Amino acid sequence: MTVLYFSSTGNNLYVAKKIGGAKYSIPALVEKGQYEFKDDCIGIVFPIYGLCVPPFIEEFIKNLRVECGYFFAIATYGFFPGAVCGQLMQICSKNGRTFDYINRLKMAENCITFSDMAKQKGDSAKQQKDLEKILLDIVAKKTFVRKDSFLGKIMTSHHLEDYEFPTGEGVTGKIKINKNCCGCGTCTKVCPMKNIKLVHSNPSFEKNCISCGACLQNCPANALHHEMEKSSARYRNPHVQLCELMYR
Ligand SMILES: Cc1cc2nc3c(=O)[nH]c(=O)nc-3n(C[C@H](O)[C@H](O)[C@H](O)COP(=O)(O)O)c2cc1C
Repeated sequence: MTVLYFSSTGNNLYVAKKIGGAKYSIPALVEKGQYEFKDDCIGIVFPIYGLCVPPFIEEFIKNLRVECGYFFAIATYGFFPGAVCGQLMQICSKNGRTFDYINRLKMAENCITFSDMAKQKGDSAKQQKDLEKILLDIVAKKTFVRKDSFLGKIMTSHHLEDYEFPTGEGVTGKIKINKNCCGCGTCTKVCPMKNIKLVHSNPSFEKNCISCGACLQNCPANALHHEMEKSSARYRNPHVQLCELMYR
């Protein structure tokens, strides 16, 4: 089993751990240019952004060369998944492999401009039950694509026309750095895009942000704040430690 995952606050890493097998973080793979995988069973686990498959995930899938008997995708989300399962059906790897299994899983919401992180719970009985079901499906190598709702289809097609979270300035123009920033550099280590550098011990942002919020959510001093955040509370999946989310 090979699981390729993206995670800024640990939800998808938790799912990847529960699936088991060899886990690889997608940003680390992109950095190394590693796109070829051969295994009996290969899966991709990632968050939904703006009711869509995030563009960097779509690009990653399209660059993959996978040789496997079973290829699955799980998209986690916090509030509304749109029509991501249908969108995933249209995406295939570079060597033409489409998914045998596509599902979505509701977890804690980690978009700090949309929800108050103080209200996000890492686990719920429903989430655990849904995850157990997905795990059983994967073990059984079930062929299945989760149906999207009618509303989801309409909303995702609108969101795709003018995508909310393109790679670029992202959230960087809205970030305020508080005086308690001690220049520890954690933000530079959790940023999946290598978009943050320390300049005279201060975080300095470039223009390759994907809006994932890893820097804001994982700052040990809680010194990074978004102008439009719902509260200063932060979220990390309770089964994941900060060091597991660091790339460098
Ligand atoms: C920029 C951004 C956009 C998001 N957009 C959506 C969305 O459209 N629908 C939704 O239900 N959740 C959305 N989320 C929430 C995440 O998909 C969800 O919390 C996911 O499980 C986070 O996974 P992670 O902890 O592995 O990064 C968004 C989160 C971020 C940071």
